[in-house]
Amino acid sequence: MKDLDRFAITEAVLEQMAGTPDPRLRRIIESAVRHLHDFAREVELTPEEWLAGIAFLTAVGQACTAHRQEFILLSDVLGLSRLVNVMHDARSRAEGATETSLLGPFYREDPPEVPLGGSLARAATDGNRKEILLFGRVTDAGGEPVPGAVMDLWQTNAEGLYDLQGEDPSAVDMRGRLRCDAEGRYHVRTVKPRGYSVPMDGPVGRLVRLQGRHGHRPAHIHVLVSAPGYQELVTALYFADDPHVESDTVFGVSGSLVVSERTGLPDAPRPDLPAVRYDFRLSPLAAGAEGGRVGADPSRIAEAARSG
Ligand SMILES: [Fe+2]
Repeated sequence: MKDLDRFAITEAVLEQMAGTPDPRLRRIIESAVRHLHDFAREVELTPEEWLAGIAFLTAVGQACTAHRQEFILLSDVLGLSRLVNVMHDARSRAEGATETSLLGPFYREDPPEVPLGGSLARAATDGNRKEILLFGRVTDAGGEPVPGAVMDLWQTNAEGLYDLQGEDPSAVDMRGRLRCDAEGRYHVRTVKPRGYSVPMDGPVGRLVRLQGRHGHRPAHIHVLVSAPGYQELVTALYFADDPHVESDTVFGVSGSLVVSERTGLPDAPRPDLPAVRYDFRLSPLAAGAEGGRVGADPSRIAEAARSG
């Protein structure tokens, strides 16, 4: 019988798990145990702190519903979501293709079709809104136009709210589906979005506050681009003039995704509006690859959790 001291315990656990038949599961859990034990040794974790950690994770689970995924939020504010995205990009994104960003929890399947030149804004206008034009092209990684590309866009309104956060969550606003023309060109009018705070009323928000951080995301427009033969692109455009563009609480911003609206851009289809020009460049889909969506729908996670 071995004495399980502060190091032998790790080896004993790894030994018991060594017969895991699935090699990937074995590698992931072995590595998780090694790092978890190293972490506990490094900070000299006390029983009270261990219990506080269990209570925190319990609260995170209890805050999850079909519409709210507190664990994804935790992953987001710890930078894990960004890290996993960056690693996936490094493996699958073609040189020259647009960088990805987080899907976030506010995507809706089958948004309303918006004709080229139409507007994402459906609700009545008010004086605080700033109308802008978004235009450009969808091309392959080398800049050749991709015909038949479909773009889903979704964003907050000028108050910083998604339609799903309004009084009637079934109302649809500030989102739409565009079909690019034969040369991959698109243009759409919208209202400049406003930045917003991630939900701060749960355990993750409490943690963010304890860390002296803010919970803000800079103003952005989410974009999902798909075309036959290409990987689905999940990304977002961030506005340079937002005060939190350098300190996104979920680390979604990349320099190449930061934009500003300008007047007088050459070939803007609506010269009267301040415009953002952005070309989205897609990575080819490897032969036989399925190219599943990068990102999660909270209701599907709840289903998967129920079915074990
Ligand atoms: Fe968002």
